[in-house]
Parts: sequence; structure tokens; C-alpha cells
Amino acid sequence: MRKSSNGDNSLIEEDVSTGGPDDQHLFGGVWTRIKLEALEKYLVAFNTALSKQRFTRIYIDAFAGTGRCDIKVKGEKTSIDGSARRALAADPGFHKYCFIELLPKKLAALRSLEAEHPGKAIEVIQSDANAALKALCAQYRWRSERAVLFLDPFGMHVEWATLEAIAATGAIDVWYLFPYAGLYRQAAKNADALDADKQASLTRVLGTGEWRKTFYSQKRQTDLFGSDEGDERNADHREMLSFVSKRLKGLFPAVTDPKVLYQGGDSKKPTGAPLFALYFAASNPNPAAYRLATNIAKDILNSL
Ligand SMILES: C[S@@+](CC[C@H](N)C(=O)[O-])C[C@H]1O[C@@H](n2cnc3c(N)ncnc32)[C@H](O)[C@@H]1O
Repeated sequence: MRKSSNGDNSLIEEDVSTGGPDDQHLFGGVWTRIKLEALEKYLVAFNTALSKQRFTRIYIDAFAGTGRCDIKVKGEKTSIDGSARRALAADPGFHKYCFIELLPKKLAALRSLEAEHPGKAIEVIQSDANAALKALCAQYRWRSERAVLFLDPFGMHVEWATLEAIAATGAIDVWYLFPYAGLYRQAAKNADALDADKQASLTRVLGTGEWRKTFYSQKRQTDLFGSDEGDERNADHREMLSFVSKRLKGLFPAVTDPKVLYQGGDSKKPTGAPLFALYFAASNPNPAAYRLATNIAKDILNSL
């Protein structure tokens, strides 16, 4: 694998063994369907459960895309509804929809959803998701609002500080498609390859520098100057994901175990490399509320 830049700071891996670009950023795959099905089912369950309560229900799509997704499954290309369209189709619906997207070329498609759904309160925000989410979290008092947030980045884009702001609301349920492959690609096997950008990215996403001690151990004798050259990652990708789960469980009142999404096969018989880990996290500290939310999410994850 060779890393190349796509200008928006996400990782695009070029698979040198097959000679072509990894389709992960051009086309979704089997994982795209799974994450979207989970989200869609949860949105209906959430709105149904809260429909008799006085809360204003908000849907926040922090990496909204265009409302459509191109996917390639078993070599066959097709286009399916993306998260924004699925959220708008949820019945019962939300009182408000916030679609956040960084890339200007995707905004027109998102804005056309406003015209398609004239009765719905849709806000399209052109911004980096971290900045927009922190602003949204600060905008409400979260007493009479409840929200579902979909975090669906391509790579290592969600800052830990953003997750802290979300958890502090006590009112947002989160589906987080964690970039599992992004994590183990950034955390190079040999620590000598961990440049300053990679280290900063890992710390930004995990919210601590503790990953260094947990993932790496000393291979060669530390030299007289205390250099850590030659350290090797001894944590395999499962152990790295356990670290992520532990971090999330320390921040949110309730977090499901992740559903790992793979490159190929299907949900029951996956094949290929693990690409993402789909988490559900509830920020509501009320045990009755977070138990209900996580039980619904677990049932959905088990059904996929
Ligand atoms: C995996 S796609 C989202 C797909 C979408 N959730 C769907 O189901 O249709 C990720 C999106 O995030 C956007 N993006 C990348 N970096 C971003 C950032 N820092 N803030 C907001 N959006 C970003 C990309 O342009 C892309 O449209």
C-alpha cells in the first residue's frame, strides 16, 4: 500500500499489488449498505420512541456527502440513497435536519434536497465537521432537544475534542463509523515511520498520547540519548480497536461493541480487510434512556 494525498487530508491508499486505486473513496461497498441500514432503522426507532414526548428531534449528518452513494459490490456498480436522503425519508420524521459537508461541489446536491422536501426544516452547512459540530453543540441548551448524529468520515477526521463536545450535551445519540483501516495504517508497524503528522492524527482522533505506550514496545536497546528509534507496534489491529472501544466507553455513558465492516463478502460472511468499525454511543446520562437506546442499537447491529 502506498499513501497518496487527495488534497482534503484523507487517506487514499493505492493498492500497489493490484496496480489500481483503492475504490474506498470513489465507490462504497458492502459496508456502505450495512452502515446505512443500521442508521435508517435507528432513525425510525428513535423517532417512534420519542414521538409522544415534547422534544424537538434533530438529525445531524456531519459528513453528509450528496444524498446518494455509488457502491461497487462483487464488481457491480450501483447507486443507492445515502444517509441524508434516508434521514429525510424516515417516518416518523425529524423536526430539523442539519447536513454538514466540507466540499463545495457536493453542496448543490444537498441543497436540492431542500427543494425536494419543501415542508422540512433543512439546514445545509458548508464547513469542516469538527467546527460545525462544536458550534451546534454550543448552540442549543439540550433541554428540549434530542438528536441523532451520523459520523461517517472517510478517514481520521473526527477529533476527540468534538466527541467530548457531543458527549457533554447529554442529548445526542451517535452512530460513528470509526476508520479502522485508517487507524492501523497510520499506526505504522515500525515506529520509525511514524512521522509527526501521523502521531498528531492518532492523538487527535484518540484524544490521548497513551496509544504510543499501548501499541508500541521497544525493539532495540534505547540509546544513551533516550531515543525510541526502532520501536515496533506489537498491538495487532484487534487490540488497537479494543483501545478505541475503551476510550469511547470512558467518554459516553453507553457504547455498543463495534460491528466490524469488511471490504468484501456480506454481513454474515465477510471477506477481505477490516475497513471500518461501526459504533453506537448514547450521550444521555439517564440510565433508562441510554439502556433503551443501546438496546435498540444492539438489536439493529445483530440483525444486520
Ligand atoms: C463517506 S462520505 C459520506 C457519505 C454520506 N454519509 C452518505 O451516506 O451518503 C464522507 C463525506 O465527508 C466529506 N468530508 C470530508 N472531510 C470532511 C470534513 N472535515 N468535514 C465535513 N465533511 C467532510 C466528504 O466530502 C464526503 O462527502
